[in-house]
Amino acid sequence: MNDKTAIVYSTVDGQTLKICNEIVQVLKKNNQHVALFNIDNFNGEISDYQKFVIGSSIRYGVHNKKVIEFINANKPQLDAVKTAFFSVNLVARKEEKNRPETNPYVIKFFKKITWKPSLVEVFAGKLDYKKYPYFDRVMIQFIMWMTKGPTDISTEIDYTNWKKVTAFGETVCKL
Ligand SMILES: Cc1cc2nc3c(=O)[nH]c(=O)nc-3n(C[C@H](O)[C@H](O)[C@H](O)COP(=O)(O)O)c2cc1C
Repeated sequence: MNDKTAIVYSTVDGQTLKICNEIVQVLKKNNQHVALFNIDNFNGEISDYQKFVIGSSIRYGVHNKKVIEFINANKPQLDAVKTAFFSVNLVARKEEKNRPETNPYVIKFFKKITWKPSLVEVFAGKLDYKKYPYFDRVMIQFIMWMTKGPTDISTEIDYTNWKKVTAFGETVCKL
């Protein structure tokens, strides 16, 4: 009997969901059962799964508060299964910040919680100015200017390394 995997995600503009969908495809290709849930909709039992993956994007320096609350509220259940976590952010577009050990958000995240998933990864996200409301657009332009990224508001760049996503999915299969 194959393992059952749950993937729970938090997304705002859809990039984390897109990454989850790729992971789902990899698991399915490997004949593994997988169920995908938005963090707002997960109401199952963690113990119904043998593997549990959580993915969240970063907004203004933090992962969705609900993700941290979920982890803290379910730590014993998470500790009883194989787990993986991934973060999606734009800082990870930089080579020197694209690993869990070098990405400031991932480092900070694991300093705040005691959960230690078996597998941790970080993916660069997507920059798409036209999707952002005025305030967010100006803020992201400022962050990009500070970090020497593109500031032209017509910019739409998918920085996600999809090979790395596929490789992550394959590692989840082998957990
Ligand atoms: C309002 C806003 C704030 C963001 N803040 C950060 C940030 O502080 N650091 C960072 O590296 N990326 C930041 N990002 C980039 C997102 O993490 C990136 O676009 C990611 O792909 C979003 O994933 P999602 O579509 O799943 O929410 C921000 C994006 C937006 C729109």
